[in-house]
Amino acid sequence: MTFDERYKAYLEMIEPALKSCFGSERGYEFDGLLDAMDYSLTAGGKRIRPVLVLEFARLNGLEPEKALPVACAVEMLHTYSPIHDDLPCMDDDDLRRGKPTNHKVFGESTAVLAGDALQAEAFGTILRSPLPVEARAGCAEILAGAAGVDGICGGQFMDLSAEGHALSAEELRSLQSRKTGALLAGACMLGAAAALADEKALEIAGRYGAELGAAFQIRDDMLDVMSTVSELGKPIGSDKRDRKSTFMSLYGEAECARMVHEISASACGTVRAIDTDGFLTELATRLAERRK
Ligand code: IPE
Ligand code: IPE
Ligand code: MG
Ligand code: MG
Ligand code: MG
Repeated sequence: MTFDERYKAYLEMIEPALKSCFGSERGYEFDGLLDAMDYSLTAGGKRIRPVLVLEFARLNGLEPEKALPVACAVEMLHTYSPIHDDLPCMDDDDLRRGKPTNHKVFGESTAVLAGDALQAEAFGTILRSPLPVEARAGCAEILAGAAGVDGICGGQFMDLSAEGHALSAEELRSLQSRKTGALLAGACMLGAAAALADEKALEIAGRYGAELGAAFQIRDDMLDVMSTVSELGKPIGSDKRDRKSTFMSLYGEAECARMVHEISASACGTVRAIDTDGFLTELATRLAERRK
């Protein structure tokens, strides 16, 4: 199977599963909340995190279908993070995944609640899945680590606190490893944990995901300067407007491009022994050049 065929096969599992999460049943007093959750969850996106879950499950001997609830869970958690990131009290952006941001359509209070509910439902989806109880517990612990103070929330706090200040490269690395790296590392580890993989396999998964995440956020910072709104599906120039310290503000485009390639190559090295048909290597290589 080629890389494109496998990615497509994963998307064909992920997209209908995500549509069925909050897209069907209505008739409740809280339909408006379900509409807001479904709006952002089914707005598209690259689906990198759920794809990583399914691939690491497969590489560790679990049929990807069985890891599908965990894949949906990581995408729910990921979807909550930009809903909140785009709020006026955070980055204050109007466009996400090519559509008006959640708060622009549903209002700020509903957007806050949609993010909160997506985060809680992510854990519920893992804990209610038919996986063995040890796998569910392991996955819930990994997701909690990626979401909390050592993950998205800690990283987002650092990101917002640093507006208007120049961070050192080390501070920026620490910030980005939390706000973005932790969930990408978590996604890889979730696939392995769903398969009840051993410590060594979990360590490799986490290291690859963290490296992928470091390169991913530097590329994100580059695209905020270099891309176009139509290509990216979100605004450009937000980081400069918000006086963020980013790798682009610190190093400029050429050095960022070099760093993305170097870190991506290191990620490929991390999985050399397990990536038997090259999917993870191709993914890291493509993400290093991504335009959106
Ligand atoms: C955007 O993530 C938020 C960051 C961590 C930079 P993605 O670039 O994966 O966004 P989608 O899911 O494809 O919309
Ligand atoms: C935020 O980073 C990453 C998240 C945890 C959502 P950014 O603020 O750079 O993400 P974008 O560029 O708005 O997607
Ligand atoms: Mg932000
Ligand atoms: Mg933002
Ligand atoms: Mg950005």
